[in-house]
Amino acid sequence: MTQNPKSKMLEFKNIEKKFSDGSTALSGIDLSISEGEFVVLLGPSGSGKTTFIRTINGIIKPDRGTISIIDEEKFLTDGESLRKQMGVVFQDFNLVENLSCINNVLSGLLFSSNRLLSSLYFFSKKQKLQALECLEQVGILDKAYARVSTLSGGQKQRVGIARAIVKKPKLLLADEPVASLDPVIAHDIMFLLRDLSKKFGITVVCSLHQVDLAFEFADRIVGLSEGKIMINAPTADIRIDEIQTMYKGQIKGLSFGIEQKIEK
Ligand SMILES: Nc1ncnc2c1ncn2[C@@H]1O[C@H](COP(=O)(O)OP(=O)(O)OP(=O)(O)O)[C@@H](O)[C@H]1O
Ligand SMILES: [Mg+2]
Repeated sequence: MTQNPKSKMLEFKNIEKKFSDGSTALSGIDLSISEGEFVVLLGPSGSGKTTFIRTINGIIKPDRGTISIIDEEKFLTDGESLRKQMGVVFQDFNLVENLSCINNVLSGLLFSSNRLLSSLYFFSKKQKLQALECLEQVGILDKAYARVSTLSGGQKQRVGIARAIVKKPKLLLADEPVASLDPVIAHDIMFLLRDLSKKFGITVVCSLHQVDLAFEFADRIVGLSEGKIMINAPTADIRIDEIQTMYKGQIKGLSFGIEQKIEK
């Protein structure tokens, strides 16, 4: 796949979202994301990360503003075209526990989530090979025919990622993909996401609460506070005091890795 990290892939213009109770979740969001970029969203709880990700995959409609995906120099702004090119990774995996891993991955080829269709009989040999290849790419091919209910959290997230990449998306959205995992497995999963992004040129938008993981894996960090963008810069250019300000000085014990990076 050709990769041009400079070409713009996603563009958000003046996105606003208020909920019916009057709370403003997003306000004046202007942002461009380049093809193949690994973007991490940071920000305190309630700052709008999930709302932002949901506006990208069309679950939430912004009250104002536009989201465009630039595909082969065409601007696609309707939700359907956008969604066809996206894979989504969930915090709680969102797998069907009593189905095999391969069937869960194959369900990523369906545009509806009709479980009846998630049977091995329904899919072509080519599609099954594609699903197996994805399970291999996430390092869990040996569990292809195991039920998801028998897997650990880290293994489940690998299946979740395989399901998200099976339709070869240009864009991968991940809302706190490692929040349910221990720190070692969380690091492994972030490594895998980054590796897939770079290998296949997939643009990733991933929200995290772990500042150290953001600094280790993101090309660019976008920091939200009260629905507004406070930080938007290449990771190497971000100072620790900007992060502290965004979290209102509440982060205790920022990890050594970050401080070392900031001092460089
Ligand atoms: N369905 C909803 N109805 C009303 N208000 C909502 C809804 N979803 C989110 N909000 C509000 O919008 C704001 C942003 O919420 P959002 O879930 O996007 O934050 P977040 O950054 O993802 O938080 P967290 O880190 O806790 O996941 C909050 O004030 C929240 O209460
Ligand atoms: Mg959230």
